Amino acid sequence: MDEILKEALKLAVPSDEEVQRARLAELELKKRLEPFNVEFLLVGSYARNTWIRGNLEIDVFVLFSPELSKKELEEKIIQLGKQVFEKYELRYAEHPYVHGEILGVDFDLVPCYKVESADRIISAVDRTPFHHEWLKERVKGKENDIRLLKLFLKANGIYGAEYRVRGFSGYLCELLIVFYGSFIECLRNARSWTRRTVLDPKKGEVRNGEFFFVVDPVDDRRNVAANLSLDNLGKFVHLARLFFERPSLDFFIRKERKVPDNAIREAMGIRGTEIFALEFERPDIVEDNLYPQLERAGRKIYEMLRREGFMPLRFTYFASEKCYLLFECQVKELSRITRRLGPEFEDYENSKNFISKERIFEPFLEGGRWWAFEFRKHTKPEEAVADFAISNYQALGKNVGLKIREGFRILKGEEVLSAPILDKLADFLGIRI
Ligand code: CTP
Ligand code: MG
Ligand code: MN
Repeated sequence: MDEILKEALKLAVPSDEEVQRARLAELELKKRLEPFNVEFLLVGSYARNTWIRGNLEIDVFVLFSPELSKKELEEKIIQLGKQVFEKYELRYAEHPYVHGEILGVDFDLVPCYKVESADRIISAVDRTPFHHEWLKERVKGKENDIRLLKLFLKANGIYGAEYRVRGFSGYLCELLIVFYGSFIECLRNARSWTRRTVLDPKKGEVRNGEFFFVVDPVDDRRNVAANLSLDNLGKFVHLARLFFERPSLDFFIRKERKVPDNAIREAMGIRGTEIFALEFERPDIVEDNLYPQLERAGRKIYEMLRREGFMPLRFTYFASEKCYLLFECQVKELSRITRRLGPEFEDYENSKNFISKERIFEPFLEGGRWWAFEFRKHTKPEEAVADFAISNYQALGKNVGLKIREGFRILKGEEVLSAPILDKLADFLGIRI
């Protein structure tokens, strides 16, 4: 185990060159900020020396008076970004911030309000200076353990709290290591976490609650693990168990699942399912807003497929140049005819009504009620989806729904066997490598 962690550290700890580059860029930024007379603070993983090798990005928070409006904050930070960065772009979280470069190093220049305590915050980012204050002494000596945890999570696709990942944020990693003392102790204990575990780093307490909750030491109503999905919690617990059973450097190295097209084609043949995708233009909104809408759209369509008898197995969603909702159904085609439930025979009025509808086939009695043979509107799942997408676009998330209304394509068969869908199929279908 020691040997493995030593090797993993080589992958996790930044090189001297990277650190040197960072220090120079930091000094340069401070120099450039000086004339503007703004109050700023280095926060995040650079300030605490917990960033992982090759992932350098310096988070700089600029503190403004709560008297300023959000609009003023936005204007000021853009002005500042323009002047201090060689290259810059506007990015959006809860409010806009500037991403820029100095001497080839990435920076996030984030505006926040300077408030007295973490329970007076105006926007979520205002908590960050308090996070830094709470952590900065406590992480000392544990920086490399934090890096090991981040790398372990990153290699397994669960690092990051953004909705696309729904994993562990950097701040959560640091709290976990402070709580347990080391990477190994964190993993040892994670083996027995459940969906009801509550960790309270400020009190140093583990208890049970309604759901997995890591209490923010600067604001005990806030769950630092709020964006961690139940399934990614489960994935981490399972990985921790596997790691203890059979430690290996592989847990720290991202596996590139390059499955040959033929293996996927073969798997599709063996499965005998219908696999198809809905493709549409990407709405111009931030990813953390887009992904929940895609999930909602996928879920709504999935539910419709189940209701209509197409027996869907799974769905997934993703956005690249365009947006995709991907489905797999056990039923490729249903018969044209289906049966519809009618009233009990005792109810003469409704029975008469039900029977008198114009139909090709005669209704029948079964179990004391009337039934009728009726035609389905769609016999194929992808046709049902196309129709549903047109008539129910309003239920598919605001911006996603509007894009779908503008137009979409259904891709099936050979059409799903090219990028970008192809790259998702190995995972989606559970193909082993
Ligand atoms: N943050 C934020 N809003 C942003 C960007 C950052 O609130 N638009 C906050 C985060 O909550 C975090 C800190 O700024 O406390 C740094 O964010 P980030 O760079 O995402 O995470 P790090 O902790 O620095 O971890 P990493 O090593 O992944 O950079
Ligand atoms: Mg950072
Ligand atoms: Mn950042």
